[in-house]
Amino acid sequence: GRVVALVPAAGRGVRLGEQTPKAFVTLAGTSMMRLSVDGLLASGVVDHVVVVAPAELIGAAVALLPAGVQVVEGGAERIDSVRAGIAAAPDADIYLVHDAARALTPTSLIARVVAELRSGRKAVVPALEVTDTIKTVDILGGVTGTPKRSELRGIQTPQGFDAALMRRAYEAASADDPATDDAGLVERLGERVRTIPGDPLAFKITTQLDLTLARALTAATTK
Ligand code: CTP
Ligand code: MG
Repeated sequence: GRVVALVPAAGRGVRLGEQTPKAFVTLAGTSMMRLSVDGLLASGVVDHVVVVAPAELIGAAVALLPAGVQVVEGGAERIDSVRAGIAAAPDADIYLVHDAARALTPTSLIARVVAELRSGRKAVVPALEVTDTIKTVDILGGVTGTPKRSELRGIQTPQGFDAALMRRAYEAASADDPATDDAGLVERLGERVRTIPGDPLAFKITTQLDLTLARALTAATTK
């Protein structure tokens, strides 16, 4: 089965607040986009990589990436970018979707997701127990509930899917009800999504605090 990794990298990085779109921000001189792609290729379980980049930075992305990596134009929302990736690589048996912003994801996690798919699961996501108490709130900030923490998980990428199931999930997805991850679209089909243990190093670099942590970790491992 052919494994195609889609790397959404077309976001603006508003919460990070750097000058350049987030995927082009560097850790020890290497862009997050490149680090994420290198991890996928080094895992040994990925046959092809498609990076989804901002329209005006397609050329810049190609220049930053190894030969053979396909680069396509993204859309306004993450879901649009992933959809563009699927369309660009229709010849997959398995899709992985992996945020460019999870630049320090260990190759072992990527390999574990694919191994789970190869053993017959159709939708696999890495999950970590949450440490904060999570509450639901109304628009005024009033607390409406406290779900049991033991039943909550923080979900990471790479998320892996049987390709036919992923295509079906994206065909059924509606623009006015965007899911915040790919597995959410599969859940709506009534299909079971399986969790495997995530990895703290697969954290999403979203804020300046995350970037500080990522740069410190990168400096510690390259010295
Ligand atoms: N992404 C994308 N296309 C979009 C929005 C997001 O490809 N229209 C990608 C981002 O580049 C990132 C991943 O999806 O690699 C996860 O999104 P997020 O962490 O939210 O990144 P941004 O959307 O860039 O950040 P922000 O929401 O703070 O603007
Ligand atoms: Mg975003």
